[in-house]
Amino acid sequence: MTEITQEQVIALLRQISYPGQKHDIVSYGIIKDITIQNTRITVTLTFPTQEREIKTRIKQAVEQLLKRSFPENKIMVVESIPILTTGGQKVPDPWADRARIPGVARVLAVASGKGGVGKSTVSTNLAIALAQTGLRVGLMDSDIYGPSIHIMMGVDQKPRVSAEEKLLPIEKYGIRMMSMGFLIDKEAPLIWRGPIVTRAVQQFLRDVDWGELDILVIDLPPGTGDVQLTLVQKTPLDGAVVVTTPQEVAVVDARRGYRMFEKVQTPVYGIVENMSYFECDQCGSKHYIFGRGGGAEAARALGIPFLGEIPIEAAVTEAGDAGAPVVIRNPESPAAVAFQQVANRLIHSRLFQ
Ligand SMILES: Nc1ncnc2c1ncn2[C@@H]1O[C@H](COP(=O)(O)OP(=O)(O)O)[C@@H](O)[C@H]1O
Ligand SMILES: [Mg+2]
Repeated sequence: MTEITQEQVIALLRQISYPGQKHDIVSYGIIKDITIQNTRITVTLTFPTQEREIKTRIKQAVEQLLKRSFPENKIMVVESIPILTTGGQKVPDPWADRARIPGVARVLAVASGKGGVGKSTVSTNLAIALAQTGLRVGLMDSDIYGPSIHIMMGVDQKPRVSAEEKLLPIEKYGIRMMSMGFLIDKEAPLIWRGPIVTRAVQQFLRDVDWGELDILVIDLPPGTGDVQLTLVQKTPLDGAVVVTTPQEVAVVDARRGYRMFEKVQTPVYGIVENMSYFECDQCGSKHYIFGRGGGAEAARALGIPFLGEIPIEAAVTEAGDAGAPVVIRNPESPAAVAFQQVANRLIHSRLFQ
């Protein structure tokens, strides 16, 4: 029997792609170690995700491929904690800075290509709608350029600090909320450079005692520039949702948003189109004043789910100003129902499997 080398095994493993991604599992950085001892080949994998289905699929694929390629060997596929080395050789670890937040099962970013599309409105209403299904939900405003979630949530007190010197999130409408806005001077972020923003957000995320959460929703700063890219690269995200409006320019920006997450190997669970149409009180019909289907079309082209259309509604703006989001203040309104649908689609997506 000719001797099997690590390189041979790595070359084989490059044939397996990471589920839902273009990358193979080797370049994705999940091969921690390969040892070949007598007839036993042991592959140690380290996963960036808690999704059992993905882990199982990869483990099975590795096992099957190696068994087929080396029928005379004993194949072992094991899982390890995320520290990456391959036979003493360091492999770049895309998750080195993305250590999980204690107690938080999954982290979802809400992003947009540009400001003013309703990212904070979607983050807030989505977080509350998710909580209304019984999940334990946290909401973090990391939009340092224009934090607004505390206003939409009607929160005017500052968070308290625990005995362990952690910030305690403010509980309201069934969710736990925290904002970078509590921490920073209004003028500061404009002169902050990218690395400072990233470090501040990372630090902030960890300085909060979130308790046990099924999901933490993070409202990201708008845009797809360097700041946003570094931020998503260094934050332990399990997925993202991109918010757009129907206008062509916004949709182009949404695609850019998708590409940003692709670069940092974070799955996008879908596109939400906000301010899609106006429902006329008199005739009851829907007017697609900015054109129809832009968000859905982009989702189709990118091969990701379309999570829904949110109508333009005075109730949404009023609720935001009144400090009680529309899903709380006016839960029967078409916009609130649309937010509940988006939440439902997310719950049935792979994010929750
Ligand atoms: N579906 C909607 N109908 C009516 N007004 C909306 C809707 N979505 C957002 N708005 C309003 O548009 C403005 C911008 O929304 P916001 O969520 O702050 O956007 P972003 O966070 O992307 O900058 C706010 O005044 C908000 O109340
Ligand atoms: Mg905002």
